Amino acid sequence: MNKYLLSGGKVIGGNIKIQGAKNSILPVLAAALMCDTPATIINCPDISDVNATFNILRHVGCEITRDGNCVTIDSSSFAPKKIPDLMMREMRSSVILLGAMLAKCGHAEVTFPGGCELGPRPIDLHISAFRRLGVNIVEHGGELVCEAMNLRGADIHLSFPSVGATENVMLLASLCKGKTVIENAAKEPEIEDLQAFLIACGAKISGAGSSRIVIEGVPKLFGCEHKVIADRIVAATYLAASAITGGEIEIEDCEPRHLGAILSVFEQSGCKIICKKDKIALARKGDILPVGTIRSLPYPGFPTDAMAQIMAYLSLAKGNSVFVENIFQNRYKHVGELERMGASIKVHGNIAVVEGVKSLCGANVVSTDLRGGAALVIAGLAAEGQSEIEMIEYIERGYQDFENNLRSLGASIEKIKI
Ligand code: UD1
Repeated sequence: MNKYLLSGGKVIGGNIKIQGAKNSILPVLAAALMCDTPATIINCPDISDVNATFNILRHVGCEITRDGNCVTIDSSSFAPKKIPDLMMREMRSSVILLGAMLAKCGHAEVTFPGGCELGPRPIDLHISAFRRLGVNIVEHGGELVCEAMNLRGADIHLSFPSVGATENVMLLASLCKGKTVIENAAKEPEIEDLQAFLIACGAKISGAGSSRIVIEGVPKLFGCEHKVIADRIVAATYLAASAITGGEIEIEDCEPRHLGAILSVFEQSGCKIICKKDKIALARKGDILPVGTIRSLPYPGFPTDAMAQIMAYLSLAKGNSVFVENIFQNRYKHVGELERMGASIKVHGNIAVVEGVKSLCGANVVSTDLRGGAALVIAGLAAEGQSEIEMIEYIERGYQDFENNLRSLGASIEKIKI
C-alpha cells in the first residue's frame, strides 16, 4: 500500500501531455477480444484498471504485449472460461467484456459485478438489450450465465443513455446477423472512439456521437491499429490542479471539444481559456468566482467524473456553488475528507452546496474513490501545510504517473510505501 505526501502552496503550471482515455481503452480492449487477428492499440494508459482488464483477457487465452503505451492483443488462442469473482470485482467495468465474449463464442459466465464505490451499479439495461439480441441469461446466486441462442439484430431503446450498455450492444451487435438500431444511445466521445476502432476492424456502424446508432452485423472482425482518444477527465483534473493554485497550464494532445461543459465552468470561475487544435491553455490570475449550479448529465452535459475535482477547486471560491449529481448515488463520499482540509460543504441527497472558504489546510485524508481521490490531491496542492493521502490505489485506477506528472508541473508530492 502506498500514500501521497504532499506539501501545498506551490503554483502548478507548465505543459503536460494527456494520457489515453480510460473509458475508451476498456471497451476497445473488449472489442480487440472479438478480432480474429491481432489488434494494436496506441496511447494505452498504464493504469491499474487496464492491467486488471489484461488479467481477465489473459485468463481467457489472449496474448498481450506492451511496449510503452503501445499494446498488441492477440486473441487467436481465446478459450472461453468462467471469469473468477476476484477478477470481476477488481475491475468494476468488467461487464463490458460480456458483449465481446458472447459475440466471440456465444457463451459467457461471470459473477454479477455488484455495487461499487459510487453506489449500486445495476446492469438491467445491458441484460434486457442482450435478451432482445437473442441471448438467454440466467441469473443465479450472484452469477450470470449467458448463452447466445439465436443472435440477430434488433431495435433497442435504452430507457437511459447508459455508456456501458450502449458499448455492450455495439460490441455484440457488430457480430450479430442483421441490423441493430440503438435509440437513446449514450453520446460520449468514448462511444465515437469505440465506433472508430470497430469500423477499422471491419464492423459496419454509424451514428456514434448521436442518440441513434445503427449496426449491420458482419461475420468477422480483424485487428487494426488504433490510437485511443485523450482522457478528458484527466485533462480536467490537471486544469483544476493548476487553476486552484493560480497557475498557468497548457494541456497538450487533447480534444478541447470534448471538454466543452468543463471549460465553461473554468471560464465562469474567472479563468482565461484559450483552445487550439489539440491544446487547451488555462490561466487564473484573480479570485476564484463561484459558479451558480453545476449539474452532472450525460454528454455533452457536465461529466459526473469531473464533479469531485471541480468541487475541490470551487471550495476556495469567493461565494457559494451548488452541485447536483444526477448519475450516481454516492458521488459525495469525498466530501467529509475535503472538510477535514477546511472546505465547507453541505450535502442534501444529490445536492452539495459548497461555501467557498479563504484557505484550506493540509490534513491526513483517505481516498474514497478514483475521482474523489484526485479531488483530495487538488485540495492538498492549494492547502497550507502538508497532507497525507491514503488509499491512492483508487487514484491509480485511472491516472498514469500522477505524482510524477504533478511534480513536473511544480508540485511537491511523493509516493511513499506505508
Ligand atoms: C461509464 C464510465 C464512468 C462514468 C459513467 C457515466 C466507463 C468504463 N465508465 O460508466 O466513468 O462515470 O459512464 O458517464 O466508461 N444504469 C442502470 N442500469 C444499467 C446501466 C446503468 O440503472 O444497466 C445506471 C447506473 O447505475 C448509473 C447510470 O445508469 O446510475 C449511468 O451509468 P452508465 O452510463 O452505464 O455508466 P457506466 O457505463 O457504468
